[in-house]
Amino acid sequence: MSRKVTKAIFPVAGLGTRFLPATKSVPKEIMTLVDRPLVQYAIDEARAAGITEFIFVTSRGKSALEDYFDHSPVLEQELRKKGKDALLGTLKETNMDSGAIAYIRQHQALGLGHAVWCARRLIGDEPFAVILPDDVIAAEKPCLQQMLEAYEETGGNMVAAMEVAPEKASAYGVLDVNRDLGGVSGMVVEAKGMVEKPKLGEAPSNLAVIGRYVLSPSVLKNLDNTQKGAGGEIQLTDAISADIRQGKPVYGYRFRGERFDCGSKAGFLQATVAFALARDELRDELQDYLRGIAQQTKAAE
Ligand code: G1P
Repeated sequence: MSRKVTKAIFPVAGLGTRFLPATKSVPKEIMTLVDRPLVQYAIDEARAAGITEFIFVTSRGKSALEDYFDHSPVLEQELRKKGKDALLGTLKETNMDSGAIAYIRQHQALGLGHAVWCARRLIGDEPFAVILPDDVIAAEKPCLQQMLEAYEETGGNMVAAMEVAPEKASAYGVLDVNRDLGGVSGMVVEAKGMVEKPKLGEAPSNLAVIGRYVLSPSVLKNLDNTQKGAGGEIQLTDAISADIRQGKPVYGYRFRGERFDCGSKAGFLQATVAFALARDELRDELQDYLRGIAQQTKAAE
């Protein structure tokens, strides 16, 4: 099977209840880190990795997401008239080619595995990527690009992996590590199993799955029969794990970069600060502000 990956699935059907009341009318994926919606970071990462077909698994109430990817001729014309070329450029970067983007509805909230399965007909019989926009990864080389370069050598299935503290493991899918493959720049491990949200103290390792996947179509077949798992949901982890049982390899890729859990408020705020500090026009002012707060806190101790 070819190892060229051109399609990516973005599961964005979640209700985002942790961010209520904001998410009452704004999809979580449209919430902004500095001035870019979460979903834009995901798209940029996918593009950098060579993805050309973007499949969004959505749900009711996500129309703002579809609007976001539309061209906006009126706005563009206005900016052109006013000579605001930089803004015009920024806006154009967000435009998607006609036909490059597809939306499919997940009619029932049955879990991540089910969301991915909803896109099966658009994937067909080729390897594909999955990006969870909640997991934002700041990296010199975008995470999915790192993974696809490694995948060229390994094939199989690959998930992004990161070490987490043992008491945090139950919030993730966790790899049961067979061996370290040092080979591909020392970043790859081979898994002999995967467990979704293990109970405290029962995680097979401290290597957690982060929301980037390169999967073979067999995982979609497995999802045809995957029963409800952790949290009563159909889990992607279980369908990938079924591939291991069928003798197909699953690799964990220890990416280089910093991951922010933008599904949580604390993670979202940390990402906001980190991405703002990375911007030339914001750095100094924000740094001064943060220093001021740190000093006040120290003085109060
Ligand atoms: C999902 C996956 C889990 C993975 C996590 C990474 O869980 O099911 O395996 O470790 O994303 O963010 P969720 O955070 O949606 O509960």
